Amino acid sequence: MSLVKGIHHMTVCVGGAQEDIDFQTQVFGQRMIKQTVLFDGRYAHYHLYYANANAEPGSVYTTFPYGRVRGRQGSGQIQSTAYSVPKGSIKFWLEHLNRHKIKNAGIQERFGKKFIRFDHPSGIQLEVIEDNADKRAGWTTKEVGADVTTHGFHGPVLSVREVAETERFFVDALGFKKTGQEGPYYRFEIGDGGANKTVTLLHEPDRPSGSWIFGAGTAHHMALEVENDEKLAEQKGIYEELGYTDASEIKDRMYFHSVYCRCPGGILVECAATVPAGFAVDEPADQLGQSLLLPPWFEARRAEIEAMLEPIKVPESNFPGGMKKPAKIPVPVVAADQPGGGASRRTSAVFIGGDTPQKKN
Ligand SMILES: [Fe+2]
Repeated sequence: MSLVKGIHHMTVCVGGAQEDIDFQTQVFGQRMIKQTVLFDGRYAHYHLYYANANAEPGSVYTTFPYGRVRGRQGSGQIQSTAYSVPKGSIKFWLEHLNRHKIKNAGIQERFGKKFIRFDHPSGIQLEVIEDNADKRAGWTTKEVGADVTTHGFHGPVLSVREVAETERFFVDALGFKKTGQEGPYYRFEIGDGGANKTVTLLHEPDRPSGSWIFGAGTAHHMALEVENDEKLAEQKGIYEELGYTDASEIKDRMYFHSVYCRCPGGILVECAATVPAGFAVDEPADQLGQSLLLPPWFEARRAEIEAMLEPIKVPESNFPGGMKKPAKIPVPVVAADQPGGGASRRTSAVFIGGDTPQKKN
């Protein structure tokens, strides 16, 4: 039996932070659920999280505003992230995207499902795909109502130059089954399949490789959900016994713990186990996304970090219950011999810059 339950989150590098917030919350109809910072490295960057109404894994799209460096799109990369929307809503989405002057490829179809691929302002691609079987609660806004809203991920579309070894990785290491092929699309599903349990390979044999760096306009990685830290360690063991020995150590991402492994097609695949309190570990569940939260090891350096970040404003419509006085919850420090306590943290960094365009010499 597979350890993987479905998709956990998707992570991309966008351009401006405010541009991202405005697009996600006003145009795409997502709920902003977390403002924090990138935990790795010497540059201060936001890490912004968006999700569905219940902030569920499987709907969590996270962005690094990374205007400082531009990435290059190509193969060996996540091509797009598809969200399921109700059947019959695709016409709404076409009109809605056109009204907001969002570049899109019109209505297409794969495996009997209508979808539209469209551009985020940074050039990253997203999709809405019709799937009536997805009953997760979508977030609603003035423009995106309950009858058309996204429920969560349907699944990522990965651009690969060759299919065979990426297929072997998803099937042998992660437990997916190949369930269809149509033109350049190869469909893989986990468990019962369908929404949030689908990964699609897009075979593009002649497409030059995209960049693997953090770089604006490119997706960085996809994450699959596993039950808990024990399963995460088990998954790391599976990678290693198959020969994928470049699986990372278990990392502490505050809201979940993670192991990363790059698949043969070039796409970085994370497995993530949500911590028991989930996104409410450091702020109340009804205040998610309201203020900038730092991991405890960076809190003493808040002023220094904030000065390097673009000032942002989250629209008040993101908080239908009204803005509340921020109530931070102290994050417990888990002892190393307790579950999750051994996850690695990079707790010190000399910040040398923030999310401003890199100066040319
Ligand atoms: Fe991640």
